[in-house]
Amino acid sequence: MQTVKLNNGVEMPQMGYGVYQVSPAECERCVADALSVGYRMIDTAQAYHNEEGVGNAVRRSGIDRGEIFLVSKVWISNYGYEKAKASIDESLRRLQTDYIDLMLLHQPFCDRYGAYRALEEAYKEGKLRAIGVSNFYPDHFIDLASNMEIVPAVNQVETHVFDQQIEAQKIMEEFGTRIMSWGPFAEGRNNLFTNPLLTEIGHKYDKSVAQVALRWLIQRGVVIIPKSTHIERMQQNIDIFDFVLSDEDMAAIATLDTGKSLFFDHHDAETARMFMGWR
Ligand SMILES: NC(=O)c1ccc[n+]([C@@H]2O[C@H](COP(=O)([O-])OP(=O)(O)OC[C@H]3O[C@@H](n4cnc5c(N)ncnc54)[C@H](OP(=O)(O)O)[C@@H]3O)[C@@H](O)[C@H]2O)c1
Repeated sequence: MQTVKLNNGVEMPQMGYGVYQVSPAECERCVADALSVGYRMIDTAQAYHNEEGVGNAVRRSGIDRGEIFLVSKVWISNYGYEKAKASIDESLRRLQTDYIDLMLLHQPFCDRYGAYRALEEAYKEGKLRAIGVSNFYPDHFIDLASNMEIVPAVNQVETHVFDQQIEAQKIMEEFGTRIMSWGPFAEGRNNLFTNPLLTEIGHKYDKSVAQVALRWLIQRGVVIIPKSTHIERMQQNIDIFDFVLSDEDMAAIATLDTGKSLFFDHHDAETARMFMGWR
């Protein structure tokens, strides 16, 4: 698997498998399937309630722990220094491991500074190999990255052909932070899987729309973690390292950008209220 080097020197696979909206019961089977077809990075979160399924699948796979890159996220109900610190230990227990490769703050709400200090401390203790954030848009990102001792290694944000994060990626790069896409297919919104431009480009390379959408992100240096519960699709999604989109096709896909979220705007008052309900 192609890797990228994080700002602390850690090598991270550029592609992994995400388990959002995979039920705790199904998660172990899905992760076992993903590992069997070659994925070596798994993205989970405290809020997905399936860290234990991930841990079971990794343990039972027989694959050396050092070959697997585990990503998890601290949820806002565990923010503040003390609660975040305890929650990292709980994630380690559920994942059945003594270190997590990358731990992120899931959202930019509540006491994120206290929570980030807990990540920094766990990083120094060797419990986390890298730390970062998720859903931190340029304002929150610049603020945190400028004020904490350890600059986030990664910022995981909604990134797909319809919301490309071009300016946000440039700002992350100023800090040496790697952009990681969530929702690389926009969960199929805006008819992504039947988009005419992506379909036409796919025909040229004998690839599916899904493969074109992922390959485009890879060529931009974005880390990706597409989700599927179907092993055939997991296989299809990882089969994107044998073709290269031309500059012309990259530029054509750039025109699909709307510069807007297809989910929710983190700066909207209603979004903030929604998150306050999930503390
Ligand atoms: N940090 C955050 O706040 C945040 C938010 C959202 C997601 N994430 C992470 O990002 C990961 C990916 O995002 P996501 O799960 O929201 O959505 P996504 O990967 O954009 O889309 C998943 C959807 O696409 C379908 N699909 C997958 N491969 C396909 C293919 N080759 N052809 C047709 N359909 C296909 C899946 O269906 P089937 O499963 O039925 O195949 C599923 O409905 C998550 O699992 C999670 O790890 C993080």
